[in-house]
Amino acid sequence: PRVAIIVVAAGSGTRLGKPLPKAFVELDGRSILSRSLDPIFALADPAQIVVVAPLSHLEQAHDIVAHSAGMASDACSVVVGGDSRQASVASGLAALLPSIEVVLVHDAARALAPASLFERVIAEVDSAGRGVIPGLAVSDTIKRVDSSATVLETVDRSQLSAVQTPQAFPRAELVAAYAAADREFTDDAALIQHAGGSVAIVDGDPFAFKITTPWDLRRAEQLLADASS
Ligand code: CTP
Ligand code: MG
Repeated sequence: PRVAIIVVAAGSGTRLGKPLPKAFVELDGRSILSRSLDPIFALADPAQIVVVAPLSHLEQAHDIVAHSAGMASDACSVVVGGDSRQASVASGLAALLPSIEVVLVHDAARALAPASLFERVIAEVDSAGRGVIPGLAVSDTIKRVDSSATVLETVDRSQLSAVQTPQAFPRAELVAAYAAADREFTDDAALIQHAGGSVAIVDGDPFAFKITTPWDLRRAEQLLADASS
């Protein structure tokens, strides 16, 4: 394959507050990780899939991937994550096949991201030849505040975008930016920009919201219930 998708699922899910790592929490009868793989296995062009899992759940991750893939394949693998999301992505990058030209990095926690969003960022990275991230306009009024809870100003919302994953990059650019990273960044686009790269934005998808809190898990369950009724 030409495209690889690194699915980072090695976080603990502190804010969700369940006794097991977030990617292994059930979402309407199947794990968050399993659900997050559905759109990826539905892609028209098969991609290399690298799932990054916690050491404690490697076996479970293998079972989930094998169940989704239907058969063993060297284009599907599970690797152990690190202490930070960035370390987990780095661990996924080390598993890329030689044929890979484009890398998508995706949060397993965005379990309902649709296949169309993956197709959109892949098409755009191919035509733009640079990194591409999905983003949505911000609908709330955003204030800048200080540490003593004083409102300083209203931020111009028209210049803001709330970004999601999958984020797509030319392989060589992403690998070089990771090699050069000297600190932690909150997403891969920030890391690329720190290395001097430029990144484009495309329309995100409301279904690609990140399951972070118990409230988000409820919302995801409700959306699945709506879809099946
Ligand atoms: N992630 C990872 N390795 C880490 C930390 C995070 O692979 N060391 C992954 C998570 O599994 C998740 C994605 O990065 O799919 C986004 O991170 P986040 O939503 O913050 O998940 P957690 O770090 O698990 O949650 P929390 O911050 O609440 O502990
Ligand atoms: Mg986290």
